[in-house]
Amino acid sequence: MKTEILSTSERDLQKAGAIIRGGGLVAFPTETVYGLGANALDEKAVRSIYAAKGRPSDNPLIVHIAQKDDILPLVKEVTPKAKALIDAFFPAPLTIILKKSDVIPSVTSGGLDTVAVRMPQNETARAVIKASGVPVAAPSANTSGLPSPTKAKYVIDDMNGKIDAIIDGGDCEVGVESTVITLATDVPTILRPGAVTKEMLEAVIGEVKIADAVLGELGENETAASPGMKYKHYSPKAKIILVDADKEKYEAFVNTKKDAFALCFEGDSVNVPYVTYGSESDDASQARELFDALRRLDELGAKRVYARMPHKDGVAMAVYNRLIRASAFNIIDLTKPFTIGLTGGTGAGKGYVCKRLEELGFNVIDTDSVAREVVKKGSPLLKKLADEFGRDIIKDAELDRALLAGRAFESRERTDALNKIMHPAIIERCKALAKTPSVLDAPQLFEAHAEELCYKVIAVSAPEKVRIERIIRRDGITEEKARERINAQLDDEYYRSRSDFVIENDGSDIDKQINDIINQIL
Ligand code: TXA
Ligand code: MG
Repeated sequence: MKTEILSTSERDLQKAGAIIRGGGLVAFPTETVYGLGANALDEKAVRSIYAAKGRPSDNPLIVHIAQKDDILPLVKEVTPKAKALIDAFFPAPLTIILKKSDVIPSVTSGGLDTVAVRMPQNETARAVIKASGVPVAAPSANTSGLPSPTKAKYVIDDMNGKIDAIIDGGDCEVGVESTVITLATDVPTILRPGAVTKEMLEAVIGEVKIADAVLGELGENETAASPGMKYKHYSPKAKIILVDADKEKYEAFVNTKKDAFALCFEGDSVNVPYVTYGSESDDASQARELFDALRRLDELGAKRVYARMPHKDGVAMAVYNRLIRASAFNIIDLTKPFTIGLTGGTGAGKGYVCKRLEELGFNVIDTDSVAREVVKKGSPLLKKLADEFGRDIIKDAELDRALLAGRAFESRERTDALNKIMHPAIIERCKALAKTPSVLDAPQLFEAHAEELCYKVIAVSAPEKVRIERIIRRDGITEEKARERINAQLDDEYYRSRSDFVIENDGSDIDKQINDIINQIL
């Protein structure tokens, strides 16, 4: 099929209207994204939309109208809340769902007894609908699964040769699809967030809920209120990984990622190839540019993309909703102070793992040396220790470690008293030292409750025999003493059950285990 490229001239708009009226397919601009329009009342024409997009047929279409009253024949009843929304917003990037009337064929509504209706703001869109003289079913004009097109050229990329005509009406101002709200439930519920926000809707009709699928992933047995939410969506060819981090942490993280691309905000300073999607403080700009940015990443040949996470309120909720789907819910949370907490019993081989992680670009913070630093000459902590354990533990302004150890390890209570003084001070100092991506090397990670401050926890484990040999070699002590030390610590099972990953230091390939774990985490 030859696809005609039309302009927004009156003549071309009439032509587009005639094609739709005659059962054909025309892509046209709206303020949100380009739509692929057909006569909503013509089953055959609607089927050809699904075919051109490769869209699953249980995913219903939005019916577009040119003026407010055109909704009347399409629905059973315009409820009072629907009327309030229409009066307050239409024409708008807002779609409302109501019980459908019999004129809507089941193919259009995906077999549901409801219908989604929208009156677009874009004048070209309304002129085409008006010229067609029929309600126009129009999904986004992309191949199913790809990002929605916000420029005519992307429609041409996806649809050339598959549809009758494409109207080139410039770039879409909003950039993400309309807000979809259902009024067919007890409490009006947002099924897809867009430029008309929850707050704006609540100001008109009171309580509005947000469907679970909007901000999260649907569980296996949950059904989506909106069928569109269950499909893989907005996905470019590149693998997108969403990074939840502030500007500084994001930059530090991405800058260790060779061979990757960044999808960031204007002004982020990254030294890998990047594409921006708007600015951090302007969520409308993020919405406008997101889909274009995703398509450009593919044009640049990106294979792996680390995307900076947007906020979740206002219009940014729409951006977040699209990005979590584009990333197939692959999210790295760097909002914790430490990327990885590394722990394990003495002699298990933590030291080697630290060295490898350092070589892989991690910033390793050694809690043992921080523990020495926080009690050095003149530190306020020394005084606290002296108050608790006796003045004589300080000799010539320096801490007498052996004496302190003797007193602190006398009993469980004394050890707890020491930890209560030391752990918070050590953690505070480690936080100040942390540069993303960081590893907190902490034998006492769990005792200090520092696992809560780490994105993921890795434990290193080794058979007792191996540990004893290693301690004897390392510290030059007897086997009996080595055993005593091991017995004084938490047992292996304790570390295992509380960690996200365990490295088995039992002769199996440890470098491979480290690489596999890091690939899974980041
Ligand atoms: O901004 C937009 O809404 C664009 C432009 C072209 O108007 N259109 C658009 O259509 O995004 P589409 O088909 O790509 O997305 C429609 C969404 C899908 O998630 C679909 O599942 C949902 O609306 N939907 C449509 N009718 C529904 C219904 N009766 N009940 C629940 N969800 C419905
Ligand atoms: Mg779509």
